[in-house]
Amino acid sequence: MSRVVADYPSPSHDTVPFRSPTGLGHMELTTDHDQPPPPSRRRFGLSPTLGQLLKQVGDVRKESTGDGGETPDHQVLDLGGDSVPRSIPFVLSFSNLTYSVRTRRRNRIAAGDTSGVFTRTKTLLDDISGETRDGEIMAVLGASGSGKSTLIDALANRIAKESLKGTVNLNGEALDSRLLKVISAYVQQDDLLYPMLTVEETLMFSAEFRLPRSLSNSKKKARVQALIDQLGLRNAAKTVIGDEGHRGVSGGERRRVSIGIDIIHDPIILFLDEPTSGLDSTSAFMVVKVLQRIAQSGSIVVMSVHQPSYRILGLLDRLLFLSRGRTVYSGSPAQLPGFFSDFGRPIPENENRTEFALDLIRELEGSPGGGGGTKSLVEFNKHWQIQTTKNDGCLINPQISLKEAISASISRGKLATSDAAAGSASLVPTFANPIWKEMAVLSARSVTNSRRMPELFGIRLGAVVVTGFILATMFWHLDNSPKGVQERLGFFAFAMSTTFYTCADALPVFLQERYIYLRETAHNAYRRSSYVLSHALVSFPAIAFLSITFAATTFWAVGLDGGFSGFLFYFFVILASFWAGNSFVTFLSGVVPHVMLGYTIVVAILAYFLLFSGFFITRDRIPDYWIWFHYMSLVKYPYEAVLQNEFQDPNKCFVRGVQIFDNSPLAALPAAMKLRLLRNISGSMGVNITATTCLTTGRDILVQQGVTDLGKWECLVVTVAWGFFFRVLFYFALLLGSKNKRR
Ligand SMILES: Nc1ncnc2c1ncn2[C@@H]1O[C@H](COP(=O)(O)OP(=O)(O)O)[C@@H](O)[C@H]1O
Ligand SMILES: [Mg+2]
Repeated sequence: MSRVVADYPSPSHDTVPFRSPTGLGHMELTTDHDQPPPPSRRRFGLSPTLGQLLKQVGDVRKESTGDGGETPDHQVLDLGGDSVPRSIPFVLSFSNLTYSVRTRRRNRIAAGDTSGVFTRTKTLLDDISGETRDGEIMAVLGASGSGKSTLIDALANRIAKESLKGTVNLNGEALDSRLLKVISAYVQQDDLLYPMLTVEETLMFSAEFRLPRSLSNSKKKARVQALIDQLGLRNAAKTVIGDEGHRGVSGGERRRVSIGIDIIHDPIILFLDEPTSGLDSTSAFMVVKVLQRIAQSGSIVVMSVHQPSYRILGLLDRLLFLSRGRTVYSGSPAQLPGFFSDFGRPIPENENRTEFALDLIRELEGSPGGGGGTKSLVEFNKHWQIQTTKNDGCLINPQISLKEAISASISRGKLATSDAAAGSASLVPTFANPIWKEMAVLSARSVTNSRRMPELFGIRLGAVVVTGFILATMFWHLDNSPKGVQERLGFFAFAMSTTFYTCADALPVFLQERYIYLRETAHNAYRRSSYVLSHALVSFPAIAFLSITFAATTFWAVGLDGGFSGFLFYFFVILASFWAGNSFVTFLSGVVPHVMLGYTIVVAILAYFLLFSGFFITRDRIPDYWIWFHYMSLVKYPYEAVLQNEFQDPNKCFVRGVQIFDNSPLAALPAAMKLRLLRNISGSMGVNITATTCLTTGRDILVQQGVTDLGKWECLVVTVAWGFFFRVLFYFALLLGSKNKRR
């Protein structure tokens, strides 16, 4: 049956051991030419796509375990020693990689006054070639600024295709970026982790994102536990990661966690940018030791390293020395002394080889002629390369095609995303989980992280309580006189805009996890839409709690109208404003990259919203050319909603009899005089106005305030809709803003 495994001419194809979850011990994915091909095979003509091949791998598994839902345990984890059959050769080769950027610089020409902007091209990578295979660690060395990170980015497809010249192949085939995303992992230089999660939780969340849904929860747990052991993190498993304000794990442990979250799905290619920098030598050694184990499990490891210690050097299989973007040495650590003695600068005994090499390169770089010194080394290296390949013939020839290699690798338990692939016609699924699962995991992670920092919510709650208390006491039990009406209007305008201002605290939420988000979406851990939805979901309980607190502290204290149903509506409006404000600020945080800038913009825009809300200038008096801003003002809708809630009662009177003189110069007259005036007015108008006649109802006040265009429920709906609108905008902001590739 499985021609996948049968076809490639590897010596050890016949036994592909993996521990079966059902405890069947060693399983043999042997080929059986006597049997007719399985239906799946017959369905796809003679040259199946990789997706179909993978499906067959799935079939193989189903048959061998008798259960489609099972996946073999990861062989990586079971490695006792280092004797792994080298049956699946992956060869990553890259040739003539060249990458240059345009730098714009303003140059003042000293002699004259002419100043101008000059564009220069700077070559960051200059014709770099090399290759490496599974089971090996390739290290890119060089001084800081020599182009190590750039080379890793180029290999990991993090540089836009248009700008990068040269080719990167895996087993002789150009790597499609979607495939690379699935089979590789990229560990960047800085650790971006949620500070308040423990090591175990961090890895578990990563497992939830990246391991296929068909894998049972206990299997994911087992994978995490095994990974913890593999990474040597057993003692730190229950410790939180920590940050500047909280004690957490050590730097070396942190780095290993960072590596762990990226290799949870057991990638075929692992790229790491300076995984050892900033660590003490023991921690650094442990990190590289872990990497060696990963490589020996059948992965290609490519990493950059600033200055490896002697012990680390012993773990590396290939070295690539860079100087100003050019290769100055490429070969094994063992060949290093020979290379330099051939060059005429033998490495003295008792000297660290890499230190010597880096010092020599720096010395040559510093020598006169603008890199003329390194030029000789670059040229020498070229000749030396030709020489050695002629002597050893050590260019690796991949024996099998990429498709076969990947399929075989998957059947050995690598690339945990494979199971779902079996069902789909595409190569490998882009996402491991459905959207609801992603949302659940994202929300759970976010809740766990923020639950451990209760002080943050405490501060928000405190702000709302204090504001509510001040408002409640300032506007204590307002009456229904003309003055009381003015105060009510002021209260509503202030209360509604306060809810929006309180939302400014949503700004740092995304900005803080922005880089985590970028890293995770870069390798398709989850969909951007799931992130947006869970972001909204997680913020909701908090704003609901804040809304009820604010509504309850102010409604009865100020003496607002409408009884319990009035209170409920008031609460809904506040909740809706919190929602709209939160969405608005979240959207801004997706667009504005910096917190301080974000606050400035939020505060300014909210001030304009208040200005145009209709409180300071009523709608009918706003100039025509500004009226669009009135309709865009988020404060307008909740403000009008609560006004209508307050003044909708037709039986309530706000100006009665002589109160007509309040708020006017006549207010100072004695009461008897006012009554006489009122009688005179009613006489001349021919209407009977007595001391108890109602002159202004709530409706009249609404008309005076220009609140006539929308009903109160309509206002509520519009406010809620604004919230959704900004969430959608946030989604698009993320979609457009997260292209983490170099230009
Ligand atoms: N976008 C860019 N524009 C101009 N110079 C850049 C850009 N990106 C990187 N460089 C320069 O390219 C060189 C190599 O950078 P990098 O690959 O990060 O070096 P390394 O990782 O070896 O320290 C550095 O001198 C850096 O300043
Ligand atoms: Mg770097």
